[in-house]
Amino acid sequence: MCGICGYTGSRQAADILIDGLKKLEYRGYDSAGIAISHGTSVAIRKNCGRVSVLKSICRESPVEGACGIGHTRWATHGEASTLNSHPHTNLSGTIAVVHNGIIENHTELRSFLCDKGYRFVSQTDTEVIPHLIDYYYRESFDYLGAVRCAVSDLKGSFAIAVLCSDYPGKIMAVSYHSPLVVGIGESENYLSSDINALSGKTDKMYILDDGEIAAVTAEGVSVYDKNGNAVDKEIHQTDLQTENADSGAYGHYMLKEIYQQPHVLRQMISTHIFADKPTLFGELEYGDIKDTERIFIIGCGTAYHAACVGKYIIEKYAKLAVEADVSSEFRYRNPLIDDKTLVIAITQSGETADTLAAMKLAKEKGAKIIAVTNTPRSSAVRIADFTFLTSAGAEISVASTKAYTAQLASLYIFAVFLAEHIQKEELTLLKNALLRLPKDITATLSLEEKIKDAAKSLVNCEHLYYIGRGADSVTADEGALKMKEITYIHAESYPAGELKHGPIALIDEKSLVVAVSTDKKLHGKTVSNISEVIARGAKVLCISPFDTPDAFCTIKIPQTHGAVSPFTAVAALQLLAYHTALLRGCDVDKPRNLAKSVTVE
Ligand code: F6R
Repeated sequence: MCGICGYTGSRQAADILIDGLKKLEYRGYDSAGIAISHGTSVAIRKNCGRVSVLKSICRESPVEGACGIGHTRWATHGEASTLNSHPHTNLSGTIAVVHNGIIENHTELRSFLCDKGYRFVSQTDTEVIPHLIDYYYRESFDYLGAVRCAVSDLKGSFAIAVLCSDYPGKIMAVSYHSPLVVGIGESENYLSSDINALSGKTDKMYILDDGEIAAVTAEGVSVYDKNGNAVDKEIHQTDLQTENADSGAYGHYMLKEIYQQPHVLRQMISTHIFADKPTLFGELEYGDIKDTERIFIIGCGTAYHAACVGKYIIEKYAKLAVEADVSSEFRYRNPLIDDKTLVIAITQSGETADTLAAMKLAKEKGAKIIAVTNTPRSSAVRIADFTFLTSAGAEISVASTKAYTAQLASLYIFAVFLAEHIQKEELTLLKNALLRLPKDITATLSLEEKIKDAAKSLVNCEHLYYIGRGADSVTADEGALKMKEITYIHAESYPAGELKHGPIALIDEKSLVVAVSTDKKLHGKTVSNISEVIARGAKVLCISPFDTPDAFCTIKIPQTHGAVSPFTAVAALQLLAYHTALLRGCDVDKPRNLAKSVTVE
């Protein structure tokens, strides 16, 4: 969360930083700011709100200078306000810092610094950093040494960039459990917390490892370890993922990305299942995992939902026991892991702090790790033994859609990969269903007008309940998550059979229940649950290929092979959330309080 960028060269830094912040805005958009070396001082422009507001401020009150750092914030400590926004400075305003991550010992450091006479103006954990650097700098007037000492006092995870007025063209950058890369240009250099945000600027970079400090000037980059010894860094040269240029005729990235799903899935399924020489699951070979006794699939939020569907599919086809777990729980619950354990970590961004920590833990205990990610060169890729790239293309909308179905597809591909070694017949049916899937999703998307109409019934609801059985209960979870994150309506989901064990007490005539029912064998059971809520006054909207006469509306999605219905049903629920959000006037692509990449735990 939060985005950091930096520039030092001969061009005006402000424009370059604002352009960089625009590309990083998906990481947090509470506030934005820049600091520029301006003669022998450091000039700051910052504001509460979006990068576009910062841009207007910089237009009204321009700041000249060819070296600077920038930040877009997702608030952790202290409300979203101009005062709390980055950069933060020391008292004399000669040292400016932007920070991504959390300083866990900021309270102790604050009181240490207060005892030394330092005053604080913000509620952030970050503000201790410029004061600490100031404290050490006064002792030695050694810029690198001061940054190194300050950083060694910090506990937590952080990426920071520092400007000091005594060193006008030099940025100090540190990465510790939070990514930061230095982009190498011609007589100019860059800094970014996301590799892809360097696209269009340079394709050469240093990726900072934990604890490394980079001293970046226009002329060159020196990297040091935590003891101050120079490090010989490898230059990475790489094609960068360019973002979806704009949302085009769709108006919103979310809608565009929903409609990209048939294409993404067609590509993945044809490459990994139906090509002459399918690449199956990345570079993984069956021999690498044939001794696996236990599989964990881990992820957060939507990625966790993909893990849950993966459990159903792998258990059904590959006959292996699978546990799906939320990364933030997995990492703290002492899971039973040994060298016969396989951990599949699902993460679109490849930077989710809890998922990375869970991967590291599992690796330490001897497990093999597969990362399923949409982001090449991400931290997840660096930790994993094997990587499966979901190739969904850049997902800009904060609410995940095409990345989710691409995650599902990779787990289905993995199930096929495992099952090829034990069975054929059922598998052929599954493969054929996957082959048809892009068409089935396109048919689901053609129901948009009907779904848009149904959204009118949801728009004024305060509470929504989603129900389903089997894999549909996971699709219900994902539908409810999509609804709450972009419409701010309270939406809860339950396995349909669980309703009468408690939640049904909430149902009354103001309730609206969204029922997902795609499994022919279970449809009758779900219909009984639908009747039970209708008997208590609720209205039911059903997502199903089957008739559901008691529902006030049924979105009749195509009937597919049961195993692939999580794709089609979720596409309908994505559109339902999207249209409800539009009717409520919500900012669909950048919902409140959220960020695309969750780099703090
Ligand atoms: C919801 C959403 C989030 C992410 C979660 C994990 O629409 O996007 O729930 O799925 O933050 O992110 P990644 O996949 O980047 O690890």
